[in-house]
Amino acid sequence: MAEIDVCPVEELPPGSVKIVIAGSLAVGVYNLGGEYYGLEDRCSHDDGPLCEGDFEAEDGIAICPRHGANIDIRTGRPLTLPATEPVDTFPVRVEDGVVKVTIA
Ligand code: FES
Repeated sequence: MAEIDVCPVEELPPGSVKIVIAGSLAVGVYNLGGEYYGLEDRCSHDDGPLCEGDFEAEDGIAICPRHGANIDIRTGRPLTLPATEPVDTFPVRVEDGVVKVTIA
């Protein structure tokens, strides 16, 4: 496990996402109404760049840009086809004004 810095909190306001790369892993870190969530930037359907697509901040739903699966940002659970498997999620916290994500 490793914790990596994402950005200062000012750079990730509510309703925004930032993608961080850690080796072969890409994680989308979302601010949903002041709560932070980490979601792997890889759709469980066919490895689409999940976090680079649109998302609904109010409902916490990421929409895969490849085939349109809806994924729950908070849990990684697939909400619509064609995705049927969950997407990995990662804990996010703020320390000393810096957003940090813990990756496995
Ligand atoms: S790769 Fe995401 S819906 Fe197909």
